[in-house]
Amino acid sequence: MENLDLSKLPKHIAIIMDGNGRWAQEQGQDRLFGHYQGVISVRKVVEAATEIGIQYLTLYAFSTENWERPEEEVTGLMTLFVDTIAKEVPDLHKNNIKLRFIGNLNLLPPHAREALDNATAQTAQNTGLTLIVALSYSSRWELVEAAKKLASKVKEGSMTTSQITEATLSESLTTSDFPDPELMIRTSGEFRISNFLLYQLAYAELYFTETRWPDFRKDDLVKAILDFQSRERRFGKTSGQLSSNDEKI
Ligand code: IPE
Ligand code: IPE
Ligand code: MG
Repeated sequence: MENLDLSKLPKHIAIIMDGNGRWAQEQGQDRLFGHYQGVISVRKVVEAATEIGIQYLTLYAFSTENWERPEEEVTGLMTLFVDTIAKEVPDLHKNNIKLRFIGNLNLLPPHAREALDNATAQTAQNTGLTLIVALSYSSRWELVEAAKKLASKVKEGSMTTSQITEATLSESLTTSDFPDPELMIRTSGEFRISNFLLYQLAYAELYFTETRWPDFRKDDLVKAILDFQSRERRFGKTSGQLSSNDEKI
């Protein structure tokens, strides 16, 4: 941790928390056991992100496609989400963490939605880490929704076609309140995006680790950030155009 350059921290880190099922099965356990252990990693990583001074942390917890998993896994995950939120919110609140949820939350059972709404309202005034949980989330769904919003504004006359810009498209996404992630981490050795923040990750640095999510700890997060800090972010320019004290990182 002492090797981190605090002046070059990513403001926003996004994580695809993958590998819970395999982690559990590798030790002869039920997949749900892996999801339960994954919650411990969430707690540790949230603590570490707060300690390091990260401003935004987005965690991919459940994709729209994950609804297609066996019913008992989906039901188990929903119970885990609701129970975890109820259990963790007091501590998150005490630590000044602001909770937000992104995704097609209409697909969630009403009691789960209620738990999310309460957690969001309870922590809305907090000024520390913003913890964004992507739940029932799909980036393609989000982009389609944004297209619909913009189209209906043009149709009703409150906006012209030429006012559809990168900025107004960004503002129509579920992430409109947050800056784009500079660092995206995926655990458990898969090298894909799986429908996560396709627009927002345009210039993110991608970091992949073999570590399964239930084994991911503060040290792993620090390692990912150190790797991020060793990279040259060129944004399409040449290396020579970038001054050594470029502020963009
Ligand atoms: C990630 O772990 C958590 C969710 C998708 C809910 P997985 O459940 O995908 O674990 P693996 O990839 O099957 O090991
Ligand atoms: C992506 O993981 C979604 C989450 C981590 C919540 P998956 O395990 O669902 O992704 P694929 O199926 O391997 O692409
Ligand atoms: Mg997986």
